[in-house]
Amino acid sequence: MKKIHAIVFDLYGTLYDVHSVAGLCNTYHPGRGLEISTVWRQKQLEYTWLRSLMGQYVDFEQATRDALVFTSAHLKLPLDDAARTALCDAYLEIKPYPEVPDALGRLQALQLPLAILSNGSANSIRRVVTASGLEHRFQHLISADSAQIFKPHHSVYKLAEDQLQLERSVILFVSSNAWDASGARHFGYPVCWINRAGNTFDELGQSPDHVVAGLDQLADWLAGQSD
Ligand code: 2OP
Repeated sequence: MKKIHAIVFDLYGTLYDVHSVAGLCNTYHPGRGLEISTVWRQKQLEYTWLRSLMGQYVDFEQATRDALVFTSAHLKLPLDDAARTALCDAYLEIKPYPEVPDALGRLQALQLPLAILSNGSANSIRRVVTASGLEHRFQHLISADSAQIFKPHHSVYKLAEDQLQLERSVILFVSSNAWDASGARHFGYPVCWINRAGNTFDELGQSPDHVVAGLDQLADWLAGQSD
């Protein structure tokens, strides 16, 4: 791997915990919160991929709303309009994983430009990052909106290379989503997979260059390299 000159992060599930909304889901259907947030997230991802294949882009907030409607019907757990709105609003304020705020500070101290490249809409990325008070950590917030298609389409990965004006081989792409790590590796980024939960990497013909169990370990690794 060449020396890294910038880091690009995935947002949902990588820096921020999509299951932050499980608590609010529980208030509508006690004991079912995590089940709701799990089906919701999986359907949200499927809808982004299916919309991409259909050539019919809707933004991530729309895909998220549509996935919640499906989830509620599928699990036979009714959510009225007010509940759906409250849950979609909560998705705009999901929480960072506990180690993330400190680790981002350590990575920024290494003088590496940090950016987010997410399937989230420009609005949702900004809302999530601002709600957590971490906006000062990032030089660029890059949304799939600009490509009108979702990752893992290569044109979305290209957005970060273009914004950073660096060759892809010196931009480290960091994701916890194995499908996203595979897409980024296929595009040509060196990739770090954050595997917090002991998951299995996808069989998509790619392997991550580095695997860590949390963002703190990535900061340790890169700090060691810059010594
Ligand atoms: C992202 O933030 C959806 O996790 C995916 O792009």
